[in-house]
Amino acid sequence: MITIDPERVVGRIDPKVYGMFIEHLGRCIYGGIFDEGSPRADAEGYRIDVLKACEGLAPPILRWPGGNFASGYHWQDGVGPPHERPRRLDLAWFAEESNRFGTDEFIGLCRRLNCEPYICANAGTGTIEEAAAWVEYCNGWTNTFYANLRRRNGNRVPYNVMYWGLGNEVYGHWQIGHQSAEDYAKKAREMAKLMRWTDPRIKLVACGLGERSWDEPVLEALRGLVEYLSVHCYVGSSNYYENVSKATVLEDLLDRTEATIAEVFGVGDAAQAPVKIAVDEWNVWYRTHGGERFAASKLEEVYDLSDALCVATLLHVLQRRCRTVGIANLAQMVNVIAPILAGESGVVLQSIYHPLSLLRHHSKEFALCVDVRCEEISTALTGSRPVLYLDAMATRSEDGRALCLSVVNRHESEPLRVPLEFVGCQAELNAVWEVNGPDVHAANSLAEPQLVTARKAEGLSFDGTYTFPAHSHTIMEFVLH
Ligand code: AHR
Repeated sequence: MITIDPERVVGRIDPKVYGMFIEHLGRCIYGGIFDEGSPRADAEGYRIDVLKACEGLAPPILRWPGGNFASGYHWQDGVGPPHERPRRLDLAWFAEESNRFGTDEFIGLCRRLNCEPYICANAGTGTIEEAAAWVEYCNGWTNTFYANLRRRNGNRVPYNVMYWGLGNEVYGHWQIGHQSAEDYAKKAREMAKLMRWTDPRIKLVACGLGERSWDEPVLEALRGLVEYLSVHCYVGSSNYYENVSKATVLEDLLDRTEATIAEVFGVGDAAQAPVKIAVDEWNVWYRTHGGERFAASKLEEVYDLSDALCVATLLHVLQRRCRTVGIANLAQMVNVIAPILAGESGVVLQSIYHPLSLLRHHSKEFALCVDVRCEEISTALTGSRPVLYLDAMATRSEDGRALCLSVVNRHESEPLRVPLEFVGCQAELNAVWEVNGPDVHAANSLAEPQLVTARKAEGLSFDGTYTFPAHSHTIMEFVLH
């Protein structure tokens, strides 16, 4: 049984949890979103078919330029006449960076997608002065060098970039400019001060880990200077039941992060703290992870139906944690561990595209507590703590009239028929969409682009119970009376 009480509100979901991330890595930007000279690109180099696919995800916020790339990126290389920009060695991914896509092109992309830019500054090889100068370039209104540089580059009106990251994964040995928590905290504090003094309106994201040993000193040093603490979450397994149960990893990560935030700010409940969590990289990623700096694979993960079910449950967690999670960015949007694969001959929407798009478009403003009673998957299959076959998330509109129920049936072979109980109201079923495919390892390709897809159900009748097909993600829209 699934019980939904529209009065049991968890909180308001920040739309920024439906954010995306792009990095100068493999074919995410060059050869993906930005492909100068391609017959599929517009005059400025943006791939028209790729942008159309991105619109289906409607990201409210887009993080750039990395990722690991951000820790060696000098933004001034990427502005001014494109043919004069230096080609650089990118030591994050052992690649060559042409710098033809830079700040102005990123802002152009955000405008095309109608989303907020979120720039991750360089806390690796970058200086605090360089980070502040980037804020001035983007947001400056004064008659000073960097604001004038933006104007000289043809952009009179400030970009008003409100979201800025203070570095990426600085805690990791793989990072350019890897630092201890204490060294990072010191540098990030000075970066934050200068960036804020340049534009006091900006919101800053500190680099967090989800481990107290790192997050506590960082939050202590940045108290009053940052609005968000970032954590990253990549999960996945080639074992089906392990894969679809991986949302527990995100739950545990958020539990740990909330506990540290509550402790540092001396509040019983992390939701009362002045810092929210930014899960600014998350996804299923295991096939192309690791190995020889894993650059050779270009991280072009091919996603199957099981990954789509996992992604739906991960996004459910982000919605459920709306009291503490203020930003989340799926990593990444195009080609690199991405829902959209763009090749010379066209675009493929991968399996994970469909739950992301459905939840983005049909979820309502408020997250609700939902009770699910059904069989558990044996821990021998999940390899983790017990999880239920069904994972359900409900959201309702501000006016209380519309409700969206999102349900993943993780059962590999059996449909599950369950009563849907609505407390204190009548629910009229309006529409149903289902993401499914022939089997859990089905994956889309150019040859078979619609093996895993979202279908709208026709001819619905609702008698208070619903059968969720095996290995499916279902979105149900109700009108409440
Ligand atoms: O998204 C790919 C990489 O994963 C990012 O560059 C880095 O931040 C993370 O380790």
